[in-house]
Amino acid sequence: PLPKRYATQLPIPSVLQPVRTDGTTDYYEITARPGMARLVAGHDTEVWGYQGMFPGPTIESRSGRRTVVTHKNELPHPTVVHLHGGHTPHDSDGYPMDLIAPLGGGTGGPGAGGMAGMAGMGPATAKPERVYDYPMNQRAATLWYHDHTMGFTGPHVYRGLAGFHLVRDDEEAALGLPHGPRELPLMIADRAFAADGSFAYPALDPSEVKPGVQSAYMNGVLGDVILVNGAPWPVAPVDRARYRLRILNASNARRYRLELDPQPPGGGGLLQIGSDGGLLERPIAHDAIELASAERFDVVVDFSRYPAGSSVRLVNRLGSGSTAEVMRFDIGSAQVSDDSRVPGGTLAKVEKLDASKAVATRTFTFIKSQNNWTINGQGYQPGQSLASPKLGQVEIWRFVSDVHHPVHLHLDPFQVVRRNGDAPGEFDAGWKDTVDVLPAEGVEVAVRFTDYAGRFLVHCHNLEHEDMASMGEFTTQ
Ligand code: C2O
Repeated sequence: PLPKRYATQLPIPSVLQPVRTDGTTDYYEITARPGMARLVAGHDTEVWGYQGMFPGPTIESRSGRRTVVTHKNELPHPTVVHLHGGHTPHDSDGYPMDLIAPLGGGTGGPGAGGMAGMAGMGPATAKPERVYDYPMNQRAATLWYHDHTMGFTGPHVYRGLAGFHLVRDDEEAALGLPHGPRELPLMIADRAFAADGSFAYPALDPSEVKPGVQSAYMNGVLGDVILVNGAPWPVAPVDRARYRLRILNASNARRYRLELDPQPPGGGGLLQIGSDGGLLERPIAHDAIELASAERFDVVVDFSRYPAGSSVRLVNRLGSGSTAEVMRFDIGSAQVSDDSRVPGGTLAKVEKLDASKAVATRTFTFIKSQNNWTINGQGYQPGQSLASPKLGQVEIWRFVSDVHHPVHLHLDPFQVVRRNGDAPGEFDAGWKDTVDVLPAEGVEVAVRFTDYAGRFLVHCHNLEHEDMASMGEFTTQ
């Protein structure tokens, strides 16, 4: 049976405290381990979570202040951690073969098979912890960290290995946006449950050792329960005031078209102030926003536009039945003060990459071929580079699709230049690191990689596509 709707209050993931700080750096420790969550009435659900929690704890970084996270693994399977949206050197970027061994080095238990299943990465070369060093030389934005294990990203994230990592800076702080209890991170993810309350992830080979997904699930795993911050269809009590919602689609494969129901008088209830890569130049009022896997929308909702004591649902126009609803906001009736503001003019200075200065145009065709998803007809091969862009130069990368593919680049964000030869779409504004490429589309983005030479990834963020080889490497130099 499905969990009850609107029976749980929206949880807010706790903010992780550093284990130590010095003049330049904050140091954190996170352990991935099994934990229990009460998601379905009468049952405990085992999650694999950072600190045993789903979502994991939120890390908050200051732009320009180095953040070092030691990730330990107490799960029975190797893991890899990627900071999605991070401007990160190769060594700390969560390359899918840079495994954190399971506790005990992977000798014995299901972990042993898991390790053996990954060519060339025996237990001898991996430790049950890894230090990820993030320079954080990047602007304020909503990032997230999640698992990125070769061939197992889908099941690992589905079991709960995902958390927020927020970057803050002075430019943003000076704006006076809603903050504190009026800034809500919202991690939206769909899941299915077995009768005993456990997560049902049907795509993994029953051995749990064979990477990738079974052929029936190659298009992606969908659930019939919508979780926000790990709670099914939660309720958030809110004041009649402005709130900043940092919306993340952390689903393996589901796309959403989110709307407020009812819309506030006059519409435009979702005032977008930022996208994957931080603040937009100026706000955009939307009636609806569309998010594919891994995309973030930073929006301000002014609940004072609604009657005191009323309720507003966040609904999904791409869903049906249980997946058409996401969460509810219950608006208080008290008179409250609200000194937040959203500048109507300029939010931030956003450099525009000059596409006419591009030194190269490269095409990446995301297409199914036999039993794999491929890029340009080739399934992912670790160590094989598809492109060698030069640091500091603008290039045009063209993503072509057969079906829906949310295409993600590591290392640096990009700007959408054209969709099907036309202007960018209504959800393409600002710095993006994931772009929702619709079926049979060609999307061109301008990108400029900077600072770090090495191997990075371009891949589809439908996690079942990714685990079935929809990934490639590029080598910056
Ligand atoms: Cu969010 Cu390479 O991933």
